[in-house]
Amino acid sequence: MIRTEILKAEDLDRALARTREVLLSGGLVAFPTETVYGLGGNALDASASRKIYAAKGRPSDNPLIVHVGSVEDVKPLVREIPEKAKALMDAFWPGPLTIILPKSGLVPMETTGGLQTVALRMPSHPFANAMLRNCGCPVAAPSANRSGRPSTTRFSHVLEDLQGRVDLIIDAGDVPIGVESTIIDLTGEAPTLLRPGKITIEELASVIGPVLTDPAILSENIIAHKELVSRPKAPGMKYRHYAPRAEMWIVSGETEDVAETVNELADERTGILTVDEHQDLYRCGKILSVGSLRSPMSIAHNLFACLRDFDTMGVTRIYSEDFSEADIGTAIMNRLLKAAGGNEVQAEELLKRTSETDR
Ligand code: TXA
Ligand code: MG
Repeated sequence: MIRTEILKAEDLDRALARTREVLLSGGLVAFPTETVYGLGGNALDASASRKIYAAKGRPSDNPLIVHVGSVEDVKPLVREIPEKAKALMDAFWPGPLTIILPKSGLVPMETTGGLQTVALRMPSHPFANAMLRNCGCPVAAPSANRSGRPSTTRFSHVLEDLQGRVDLIIDAGDVPIGVESTIIDLTGEAPTLLRPGKITIEELASVIGPVLTDPAILSENIIAHKELVSRPKAPGMKYRHYAPRAEMWIVSGETEDVAETVNELADERTGILTVDEHQDLYRCGKILSVGSLRSPMSIAHNLFACLRDFDTMGVTRIYSEDFSEADIGTAIMNRLLKAAGGNEVQAEELLKRTSETDR
């Protein structure tokens, strides 16, 4: 355990000065970005990167994103900046877009998980932006959660996961977006989307032309990790990320059918993830509204926090409604499916299967 100092982002001068000191002396700082909180260390310091993996409990072959304060800062970190990368930086930076490029010799292998490529991002959160312009080094930062758990979008959740494991935590309250940055890989033959986020594939394509989608992030493939005929008790832990402790199922179908099925199966230790418009349809269990259907951004904003709230409530199973995959919905469903380990089921199928198990 190390002593963790906590400073408010509003106490800007002090927070920036301490952040700089900690980073340049090889320490770790949890800081807010517009997407989720990050767990930062000096990206050029191999031992800082090793500390990040240790603090997170993350396998060291999973590369870190390197955060910068300007496009100028990217130059020494990469072999070259291709035209398409320049165009994307112009269009979306600062903002929730991570771009993967071939790395230069300056970036240690520890930071890139042994890869010859580096993920780069220039965040727009005012604290992150000021920090990166002031701290004197690029900052390697994964999401500020213990490995496998939902990313942190509230200060209290950062504290829960990282107090005693990092030198400094910057408290900026809730972060605005709530799901991690869009990731595009520009190192292959064609630009490829590796993770959906607030910036959509259509927006990327409008700037650089066609963008492929990595098959690993297609919903049907996440679902296929699970044998669809397996019983609800199947743990499927292997494929879980962003995961609450309880087993989780996404229940699809007409809203009334979903509510009816869930009402039949739920008890007081069941978590139900719904939206403002549907809350009243549920009768029992721990019912959380993640946001409003009229504002998909509100759903992204609250998603990880709700998953963590279910943990605090000690629920043993979570049923979630499914959501539209339009715009930010692609990112929402990607995180939700991962959190559920690919467990998605039609309402009537769930009912049938559960009654078979019970017999
Ligand atoms: O919004 C975000 O991107 C947040 C904030 C803190 O910036 N960061 C974040 O980092 O989500 P992390 O480490 O939780 O997720 C980064 C993802 C991982 O899935 C990692 O495997 C992938 O990016 N990644 C990083 N570098 C890569 C590379 N060179 N090639 C392929 N994937 C890479
Ligand atoms: Mg993460």
